[in-house]
Amino acid sequence: MPLSHRWTLTRWLIEERRRYPSASGELNALILDISLACKAIARIVAFGDLGDTFGQALPAAKAGEAAATLGGHINVQGEVQKPLDVLSNEIFIRMNEWSGHLAGMASEEMELPRQIPEAFSRGKYLLVFDPLDGSSNIDVNVSVGSIFSILRAPQDVIDSGRDVTEADFLQPGATQVAAGYALYGPTTMLVLTVGNGVAGFTLNPNLGEFVLTHAEIRVPADTREFAINTSNSRFWEPPVKRYVDECLAGQTGPRAKDFNMRWIASMVAEAHRILMRGGVFMYPRDTKDPAKPGRLRLLYEANPIGFVVEQAGGRASTGRQPVLGVVPSQLHQRIGLVFGSRNEVERIERYHQEPAASDAGMELFAQRGLFRN
Ligand code: AHG
Ligand code: MN
Ligand code: MN
Repeated sequence: MPLSHRWTLTRWLIEERRRYPSASGELNALILDISLACKAIARIVAFGDLGDTFGQALPAAKAGEAAATLGGHINVQGEVQKPLDVLSNEIFIRMNEWSGHLAGMASEEMELPRQIPEAFSRGKYLLVFDPLDGSSNIDVNVSVGSIFSILRAPQDVIDSGRDVTEADFLQPGATQVAAGYALYGPTTMLVLTVGNGVAGFTLNPNLGEFVLTHAEIRVPADTREFAINTSNSRFWEPPVKRYVDECLAGQTGPRAKDFNMRWIASMVAEAHRILMRGGVFMYPRDTKDPAKPGRLRLLYEANPIGFVVEQAGGRASTGRQPVLGVVPSQLHQRIGLVFGSRNEVERIERYHQEPAASDAGMELFAQRGLFRN
């Protein structure tokens, strides 16, 4: 299709807004600012070790130096921040703090909520983001992305213009106004929901425009593909072991079909694959570290991806309940996450509800299960 016939992100947002005649256009403007941040990050990621073009030099990797030690700083997660984690965070802040649409921001890379500086006016939305997801993949030129979630600020924040607190962000995912991600892969894509299905846009690098290429993305209900970090199998809970063992048993097992496995270690890239062709992703709660109920963070990983996946007809769960129903207790809370093709996620939820059956299942597969205790 010639470019002139395609919709840009701007046009798509305007057409969406027509459904709400009273809408002010602030949400659209906010999403366009976020998309600009993503374009800036995409450009830096694409330049790799050649250095960035955004006016800030990145420390060059020395041969043999552990990439993870380059940034040096430890974030609130106890994880080493890479230069691109920090720079991406900074880009998100700068592109969004001035507009008057936000009451505050929070991100993986900031321990506390970020206030909108006095010099700018404050608005009615909260922006929560993972500026760079999958950052362990940066140094090996594997896809990374940015994930964002837009919430409405509590009414008293809007009315008073007061500083935001952690508590203002602790809203269940079901209240998200919009969510999405940018994927910095072979092409840069922006995938977005404003609560009316999911659309995907591909960055035309010549124009610097996101162009609608994937209208109405739907996740197939069934799949033969799963994604999980199997090096954690000894820490899995029985329902997860049962599910994976049954997949591995393949054609001659209880599922009577062969499965394929993928693990990119960039959740945003796994989410995109699943949105494009189905599949199930699991980073379940496990017993690895009692202080960490899961690996992924609720507010800026599980909730936005969960919203997108559910809007595309898939399902997102903790294994025990829909992830979008979880009332957060902390800004940087971690949670077990299972999402993707609806029938598989529902099966995994059933296994969590049937502990007895699950144990029986484990016994049945204790002989041939690869990940048995
Ligand atoms: P981040 O780079 O934002 O810290 O997130 C990384 C997350 C997620 O993207 C990925 O699925 C997971 O960590 C990878 O975990 P493993 O290291 O266990 O593979
Ligand atoms: Mn992440
Ligand atoms: Mn991150």
